[in-house]
Amino acid sequence: MRPSRKFQKLFSLDAVQSLWEHICRWTHPVSARRILATIDQAELERLRQHYPYRPNARRINAYEDATYWIGVNVKHVQDLWLDRAPPLDILDLGCGAGYFLYVCRLFGHEGLGLDIDEELFFRGTTQLLGVRRIIARIHPQTPLPDLGKKFDLVTGHRVCFHWITPDQRKEWTPADWEFFIHDIRTRFLKPRGRLLLEINPRPDGSSFFTPELRALFESQGARIFRRKALLAADQSERPRFKQI
Ligand SMILES: C[S@@+](CC[C@H](N)C(=O)[O-])C[C@H]1O[C@@H](n2cnc3c(N)ncnc32)[C@H](O)[C@@H]1O
Repeated sequence: MRPSRKFQKLFSLDAVQSLWEHICRWTHPVSARRILATIDQAELERLRQHYPYRPNARRINAYEDATYWIGVNVKHVQDLWLDRAPPLDILDLGCGAGYFLYVCRLFGHEGLGLDIDEELFFRGTTQLLGVRRIIARIHPQTPLPDLGKKFDLVTGHRVCFHWITPDQRKEWTPADWEFFIHDIRTRFLKPRGRLLLEINPRPDGSSFFTPELRALFESQGARIFRRKALLAADQSERPRFKQI
């Protein structure tokens, strides 16, 4: 990387916001090591041997690496101040291996996951971690199944249900996102509830938030911070990450 690019990157908005997140986490530390000690890592390895990687699977998807994923999910918990919030009802969309809800439960929260059942390894890990999940597929312009209750927090980390094709060439339109947000707001969030979506950058490294999508999320009242969008149940309310 050319020195000028390096300098630019160092002082980019994203770098400053990343530093801010680090400082906030540092003010309320959580021991990932103690959490890790509660997990049977040998059983995770056994599950991986039983359900081996798909061909060409990326290292990032090594979900048996509890050290890495507990570290990641402790940060998610800290960023939403869940390590010091009163007990919340949390719905995690695309819950994957279940690490996020597992860590949430250690802080007194009640969690429910929602995911498709294509990855047998996730079936095993959610059972191992004691994470309850509903099997359902999120489709554009389609209401989610009734879950019989509302939540204080609905999350989606490393969201990919908006990819209509796995190669990420076709994705939800702004109208699809509008439908989804309205469905979550009206059917799944309690009056002071929040929806947090963390969406990975695009394959070329650019932000998920194209100008059009940023405008859509902002018109919905979202607070956008790095790759995250936080929305309140009430569209006119400006949600806060720190809500305790
Ligand atoms: C990249 S993984 C992220 C898993 C987890 N949230 C995490 O941060 O580790 C995406 C998850 O979304 C789920 N998923 C993908 N498409 C979905 C859809 N249409 N409806 C529901 N879940 C979906 C996958 O099964 C997977 O668990």
